Amino acid sequence: MEDLTLQVQPVILKFTQVFEIEEFVSSNGGATRVKVYDSIDLQLRDLYKCLHPQIPFSIKAYEPWLASKLTGKDILLYGNWIWYSYENELVHLLPEEEFITVRTSRNKYKITGEEQALLQEKIIGIVGLSVGQTIAIAIAMERGAGEIRLADFDTVDLSNLNRLRCSIADLALNKAEICAREIWRIDPYLKIRVFKDGLQENNIEAFFTEGGKLDLLIEECDALDIKVLARYKAKELGIPVLMETNDRCLIDIERFDLEPNRPLLHGLMGDLNPGLLKGLSQEEKISYLMPMVGLQALSERMKASMIEVQSSINSWPQLASAVTMGAGVAAELSRKILLNESTVSGRFYVDLDLLIPEPPKSFQITETESRPQLLDPAILKAFIKGFRVDPKVEVLSDEEKEGLLSACLHAPSGGNCQPWKFYFHRGHLFIFHEAHHSVSMLDYGNFGTYLSIGAVIENARIFAYSKGLILHYNYFPAAGYTTLVADLHFEKSSELLSYPLSLSELFNRHTNRLFSERKELALSDENNLLDLIGSNRIAQLTLIKNTDQMKELAEILTEAEKLLLLNARGHQDIFEREIRWTKEEAESKKDGIDLATLNMSKAEAIALKVAGSRHVMEWVSKIDGGEAFKRNTKKAIAASSAVGILTMPFQTAEAYLHGGEVMEKLWIKSNSLGLAFQPVTQFSYLLARANNNGESLNSTEKERLKLLHRQLQAIVPQTKSREIVFIFRIGYTEKEAVKSLRREISKMKIYD
Ligand SMILES: Cc1cc2nc3c(=O)[nH]c(=O)nc-3n(C[C@H](O)[C@H](O)[C@H](O)COP(=O)(O)O)c2cc1C
Repeated sequence: MEDLTLQVQPVILKFTQVFEIEEFVSSNGGATRVKVYDSIDLQLRDLYKCLHPQIPFSIKAYEPWLASKLTGKDILLYGNWIWYSYENELVHLLPEEEFITVRTSRNKYKITGEEQALLQEKIIGIVGLSVGQTIAIAIAMERGAGEIRLADFDTVDLSNLNRLRCSIADLALNKAEICAREIWRIDPYLKIRVFKDGLQENNIEAFFTEGGKLDLLIEECDALDIKVLARYKAKELGIPVLMETNDRCLIDIERFDLEPNRPLLHGLMGDLNPGLLKGLSQEEKISYLMPMVGLQALSERMKASMIEVQSSINSWPQLASAVTMGAGVAAELSRKILLNESTVSGRFYVDLDLLIPEPPKSFQITETESRPQLLDPAILKAFIKGFRVDPKVEVLSDEEKEGLLSACLHAPSGGNCQPWKFYFHRGHLFIFHEAHHSVSMLDYGNFGTYLSIGAVIENARIFAYSKGLILHYNYFPAAGYTTLVADLHFEKSSELLSYPLSLSELFNRHTNRLFSERKELALSDENNLLDLIGSNRIAQLTLIKNTDQMKELAEILTEAEKLLLLNARGHQDIFEREIRWTKEEAESKKDGIDLATLNMSKAEAIALKVAGSRHVMEWVSKIDGGEAFKRNTKKAIAASSAVGILTMPFQTAEAYLHGGEVMEKLWIKSNSLGLAFQPVTQFSYLLARANNNGESLNSTEKERLKLLHRQLQAIVPQTKSREIVFIFRIGYTEKEAVKSLRREISKMKIYD
């Protein structure tokens, strides 16, 4: 309800005898306590000048005018005395009408007398007084309304004082009350009604209609519920709504008075209504809020700040300059609406950066490796035909070839880039590196590609065993021509073959980025995984299960994830090449990372979208921010049973190919044991780059990666003498991951 017990409400006193003033002062603590301000003579002179603009001021003319005004009474009794009890201040003031005349005289004729009188009849409601305070004061200063209703339940915090004007003595006071007091310090005659509980369902009727219907609602609150509720009511009553959001001075005008059927907030509120709101989770509310705030159109600094909310800052920034500017714009629009000078509805920006543009800054151009052309099948075929192949190999049937190919294509690849091309020729399956798809900051030395092709080979092996065939293969069979990565061929086995992994397990392999509560890794599962590579002397697996060590690892691995996002080239890879933002995009391209597979909350997906702007990321770098980008993987690792680190004695193409075979074995087995498996690989590939040519990394980034390496070596001593080829996390979850797609076979295979 409206608060009628405001301490800040001034009392207007009219004295008829001078001793009454003295009595009032002494009854309030005497002259030492009560501060008396009497500038009535100055005010009367001002009034005289307003009324006689055509003649220069002279005492000679003023004094007789004053004498006739006072009609023999003491000047102390002229007009009113205003008692500000909370300040113990007694101020002598012109009577209301004369006060208004003088106080609005400098509005003329930007505002005519008639308009001023019309505005005097108007009632404005303002909800949300962090920003609304400045608007309310601007309107009050202009006397842009006869009555202002102020609603806010919140009290002032010290952190509000960068944009909200009040004394440090007022901290913890209600914002609406403070606003009323600031206005009454300027104009004690203005009618103000304060709703200290904020706008709520139980006072909305009073706020909008009691004592006269609002002529304009200015909505400046943060809460989605109130935004919706207030608009519903405004629309129902045909009241225009004005909102100023100070980033880029965004203005929304909704003329429900002129367009009663206008959708709320130009349709940006979707199907929201007060009933629906009650059942919404915080997540769902965010997804409604984002189109309302116009996420993509936010300023770069605002976007960067949003990424930092709950990491390095508590809440989004608002500046006094922007609030003040926005208040000026809102007050002007409020007047125009109330005087029927403006009829438009819509969303507008009064953006200084656009209005006063700076010459474009030279912007760092992202270096990219040039992307090779797609391989030319005719050239590859000609090459293979001139290639000597072992003629005594088993030639697969068409059905077997098809089965083999689909097993191969199911292999994982970094960013789901599927960097391969297949060609069957005289019983051999040749695997080429389709470098057009794999150009990436992470694929230093094609290491990621080779891991993926290693996985393809492992899949071919599993397929072969399932058909009673033995797989033979050579890495890089054509010396000096690394585009041809492998030559696979098969031999029929006379004996019954057994292999620890089946074809159905192979097709069950997938990346699962979901997680549930952490469970210890079962000893039998751990042994199962270690046994898979037990006899393999080259590849070694270290499983880190200690939660403190996992936490330290998470810090290292996510720091590298962040570094990649903030790096110009890494950023370009992720945002321009890798992520498929919609289901449609994922389904049409059938490669890349479908956003749906990333296990992101709405808020995280929004942060990722915001992070898509390179300029925004430059800001995040500048402020040394971006901790938010680490959150998701940190949570995932904390919920995992173990982090696995696969190492090899050296860092060669062959080591990665072999590592890829082992990786695929572990991955397939983990999935069949019911373990979610997610690679967390950025660190290892960035480190490989930093330790070699270091291209596309600046010296700080290189140093950072080397420091992270030393930290990792302290946790996993094996990595001091061995090369890390693959890092992953495993954990138990019932949650089903969205499966990623593969390009059509026709795009991956070379036909004869
Ligand atoms: C070498 C390599 C590195 C990968 N790195 C990551 C990674 O850092 N983070 C991640 O979530 N997935 C990573 N993946 C998983 C791929 O994105 C995934 O395999 C691909 O999207 C295909 O999906 P699927 O595994 O479900 O078939 C990596 C995969 C490979 C083969």
